Amino acid sequence: MASSNRLSRRDFVKVVTAGLGTLMGASVVVPAVDYLIDPALKASETDTWIPLGPVENYPIGEPTPFSFTTTKVHGWEKAVNSNGIFVLRKSETEIEVLSNVCTHLGCRVTWHPELQEYVCPCHNAHFDKEGNVDSGPAPRPLDNYEIKIEDGNLFIHFTEG
Ligand code: FES
Repeated sequence: MASSNRLSRRDFVKVVTAGLGTLMGASVVVPAVDYLIDPALKASETDTWIPLGPVENYPIGEPTPFSFTTTKVHGWEKAVNSNGIFVLRKSETEIEVLSNVCTHLGCRVTWHPELQEYVCPCHNAHFDKEGNVDSGPAPRPLDNYEIKIEDGNLFIHFTEG
């Protein structure tokens, strides 16, 4: 007597065909979904050395403004950011690079040679030539950047999360 639980040849072929079809479909759908969703879950982080050109381009004693852009990718969104800095060459070998972003609420400071200070236009914070707070609501000095000099060219270490 034949058991009713035994798989017929025809049913076996159906099960194997359905299984292979499912595997083949998954092998197409899973990478496609990953391709579509993965960028939305990723945020890029900027961690690079920005070249500022030859050191000799920067006069000794006066802060020199410099600007550059960075591109940040967050998921499907791509943003180009404008960044501003001041290069303060104190001597032939001593260089400090300051951010132009006010440490109060993030407005951009400008250098005022007549005052020998950076001044923030938003709430009138004043910073000395080396970025220390002279007056106003700024809670701390201007940020400064790690620098390196290679073959006479200046670079800053720039990170952006
Ligand atoms: S943002 Fe600069 S003083 Fe407020």
